[in-house]
Amino acid sequence: MSAQSSAPLRLAVIVGSVREGRFAPVVSEWFAGEARAYGTYEVDVIDLAEPANTLPLVLPASEDSVTEEVGRIWSSLAKRLDAADAFVVITPEYNHSFPASLKNTLDWFHAEWQAKPVGFVSYGGMAGGQRAVEQLRQVFPELHAVTVRDTLSFAMAGNRFDAEGRPVDEESTNAAAKGMLAQLEWWGLALREARTKSPYGKAD
Ligand SMILES: Cc1cc2nc3c(=O)[nH]c(=O)nc-3n(C[C@H](O)[C@H](O)[C@H](O)COP(=O)(O)O)c2cc1C
Repeated sequence: MSAQSSAPLRLAVIVGSVREGRFAPVVSEWFAGEARAYGTYEVDVIDLAEPANTLPLVLPASEDSVTEEVGRIWSSLAKRLDAADAFVVITPEYNHSFPASLKNTLDWFHAEWQAKPVGFVSYGGMAGGQRAVEQLRQVFPELHAVTVRDTLSFAMAGNRFDAEGRPVDEESTNAAAKGMLAQLEWWGLALREARTKSPYGKAD
């Protein structure tokens, strides 16, 4: 095994909601804990609500046309996304879709997503954010990222966690998280090796 293939997989967990009073931290803190407990991931939580991760809605014409502050945010996020071998997107559902904050972040980057797997944790009302996830499944291929089959979905999310932030149905929910993390690990390892062998888009 090469040093590269034995290095821990780096997982970026992207927290999509930036809404005031959001429920997102309950879901993301639980999930990040599960991802760390899984044992083979190095986990980086990228919370889009943090000012240090907030990019403006106006996409720049070039790198030269951004302010120093935006440039700092852009390059710091680019480094963290580039370093990731796999992503998990944590998304609520707003009006049958995913939040604008998430789309904006996806649009600011390109190569950073390429040839990497993406898993989803969604939450919301009756549909548990599944319409948001199905729409994200249309967006990620455009960025040359692959989405894994299993998702974690919390319908009526407020009722699915206790006051300590633990899933009410802890055993089966944690088992579902492990299943999704295992799929992501398979793809993450396979694609990391493939990216190491030859740059994405070029045959050997
Ligand atoms: C603007 C808005 C639109 C929403 N639309 C939907 C929806 O279409 N389907 C749904 O199941 N829940 C919907 N909800 C409920 C949210 O998914 C739920 O409140 C969730 O907790 C929001 O995540 P957040 O608190 O982390 O921002 C909506 C909430 C907001 C604020």
